[in-house]
Amino acid sequence: MTQQDIAEVLAIEKSATSFPWSAKNFKDSLKAGHQAWVFSDKSNETIAFALVQKVVDEAHLLNICVKPSVQGQGFGRKVLNYVVDFSRSISAVLMVLEVRSSNKRAQQLYLQAGFNEMSVRKAYYPAKVGREDAILMGLDLGLISLFTEK
Ligand SMILES: CC(C)(COP(=O)(O)OP(=O)(O)OC[C@H]1O[C@@H](n2cnc3c(N)ncnc32)[C@H](O)[C@@H]1OP(=O)(O)O)[C@@H](O)C(=O)NCCC(=O)NCCS
Repeated sequence: MTQQDIAEVLAIEKSATSFPWSAKNFKDSLKAGHQAWVFSDKSNETIAFALVQKVVDEAHLLNICVKPSVQGQGFGRKVLNYVVDFSRSISAVLMVLEVRSSNKRAQQLYLQAGFNEMSVRKAYYPAKVGREDAILMGLDLGLISLFTEK
């Protein structure tokens, strides 16, 4: 992902989530040097993106998103596998992420990829009413080979 991709990425983010990142969030993330990718289909249209921050030996999945019109076709799993493989390649030993407690779809994706629930961050996210908890999930990258047989 480069600054030139942000308009397209933002459109996907806004169409896929109720509380989207802003353009500034994406710009700041790129400026900070976080790893960021866009994924395209055969006609070169962006259909997904992901961002990862490395902190010492941990890889933090900051955002992952698939364009709504192509969700449910396996792209989320492919993108997640890609970022997990990347994180191992940069010698991270643990991958962590936060997910809304209501986002069962994403949680299912992570559980299937071998992530475990580590803890709950109370009232972490803004919500339509009040605040919503985040579930902190983690994947031991040393054990990943046990979960990628599929
Ligand atoms: C979460 C997200 C990335 C999944 O991408 P996707 O391309 O739809 O997912 P896939 O087609 O690869 O499906 C992978 C797994 O996700 C889960 N999943 C996908 N669609 C689902 C649905 N409608 N209901 C429940 N689980 C679902 C399933 O576990 C599925 O595996 P299975 O098909 O073997 O059952 C996508 O829904 C998305 O971008 N959501 C909005 C942004 C978001 O919530 N990001 C995560 C923030 S933590």
